[in-house]
Amino acid sequence: KILVLDFGSQYNQLITRRIRELGIYSELRSHQMSIAEIKAFNPKGIIFSGGPNSVYATDAFKVDPAIFKLGIPILGICYGMQLMANELGGTVSAADDSEYGRAAITVTDEQSLLFQDLPTTQTVWMSHGDKVTTVPTGFKVIATSENCPVAAMADEARQFYALQFHPEVRHSEFGNQMLANFAKQVCGAQANWTMADFIERQVAEIREQVGDKKVILGISGGVDSSVTAALLQRAVGDQLTAIFVDHGLLRKNEADQVMAALADGLGIKIVKVDASERFLTALQGVAEPEQKRKIIGREFVAVFNDEARKLKDADFLAQGTLYTDVIESGTDTAQTIKSHHNVGGLPKELGFELIEPLRTLFKDEARALGEQLGLPHDLVWRQPFPGPGLGIRVLGEVTPEKLAIVRESDAILREEIKKAGLTKDVWQYFTVLTNMKSVGVMGDGRTYDYAVGIRAVTSIDGMTADFAKLPWEVLQTVSTRIVNEVDHVNRILYDVTSKPPSTIEWE
Ligand code: XMP
Repeated sequence: KILVLDFGSQYNQLITRRIRELGIYSELRSHQMSIAEIKAFNPKGIIFSGGPNSVYATDAFKVDPAIFKLGIPILGICYGMQLMANELGGTVSAADDSEYGRAAITVTDEQSLLFQDLPTTQTVWMSHGDKVTTVPTGFKVIATSENCPVAAMADEARQFYALQFHPEVRHSEFGNQMLANFAKQVCGAQANWTMADFIERQVAEIREQVGDKKVILGISGGVDSSVTAALLQRAVGDQLTAIFVDHGLLRKNEADQVMAALADGLGIKIVKVDASERFLTALQGVAEPEQKRKIIGREFVAVFNDEARKLKDADFLAQGTLYTDVIESGTDTAQTIKSHHNVGGLPKELGFELIEPLRTLFKDEARALGEQLGLPHDLVWRQPFPGPGLGIRVLGEVTPEKLAIVRESDAILREEIKKAGLTKDVWQYFTVLTNMKSVGVMGDGRTYDYAVGIRAVTSIDGMTADFAKLPWEVLQTVSTRIVNEVDHVNRILYDVTSKPPSTIEWE
């Protein structure tokens, strides 16, 4: 496995992902990881990520210099390269102009393992203010570019390599191969990380941890908790009880599909709590979006706790925490710290021990895991859906009538997108019930009814998004069907804003 130390670059997770895509296990950890912890982790190689600091800044992120004495190969990327140069006796200076964007590099050492089988000139992605001006003793320059004489350097004896550019970014033409060369050729890591192995290891670990005790798990209807349920079922079978809190804010038929897949399909013991009345009551008269979100989160935990208390003999609480949640909660670089809220995550006061078997997986890895565990393809590859559900897609106060409008119109939109074969091209698509009524005419009569908004976006990770250019014909069919089939709707709007400045959800 390969250890990636985080110095705060916006691309830090990508490095880990690229290594995993090679079939080699990799984790992103804080740069403050101690030497003892690194030894215990026992990586074949270490990668220093990029970062926003200058190595000369007083608060620059550092490593324990003993890391260079471990005999483990190291690859420094961008800030990681500058740090390596600075720590090992080279010099780093501010570049006259910071360099941002594509650049051409020339490989000056074609024998270098890092560039094995790669062309001499290639395009890479640069993003830096400082650069290495003198390489440390023992190092040689292995690639250069016009603006950056030391675009890459290496000390082959110690197996230290460094790149000023970002191989993990797609714009670096052969970046993946460089990472592969480092992991395989330099570090000798084996590509043996597969989902089947993951399941086997996790199942053994969970069995060891749980013994003959009982586990409970809150499921919300979403992908992460469903996959966690499937994995725990594989590991401990009937010792697991899942509590499905149906807040009544799921999409059309979604609760039934989840029950069919988990209870009927995999035989998971599920206590389903229909809490829709309770949620609707709590939301009555509340129009402010943040307040609605808070109420839904609070009620979820409260309902879960009520049910969990009834199951007196459980010792463990499982959660579907993903790797991104772990990373976003902070690996000590200021840029990534952001508190993470996970539904159902509170009952620590109830005295449970936590199990989070997905905490090393990225979202798409969790989906692949779910499929391997026997969950239906369509269920695990569902588009993203917010925890507060349709509650934040009815703008303003939530009522049963309004929920019905957004649920039915959303089902029509999804059906038509599927029929048009667009599910893979559009990242997320849904309808929103605006709080606005306008005048229309139907048959011979005047109507005064609601307008429904259609939101469809393309995106990689939801952080930024562009509105999707859905074909007019599809929009036309959706529009006609919604107005005809859903009561109290007489107008359809298409959201043509991107994120930023808008967000994907309307609340
Ligand atoms: P925004 O609206 O912030 O949404 O552009 C970005 C992505 O996050 C989803 N989203 C949520 N997911 N809990 C979630 O699990 C939430 O409270 C939540 N709010 C928004 C949204 O659907 C989009 O994919």
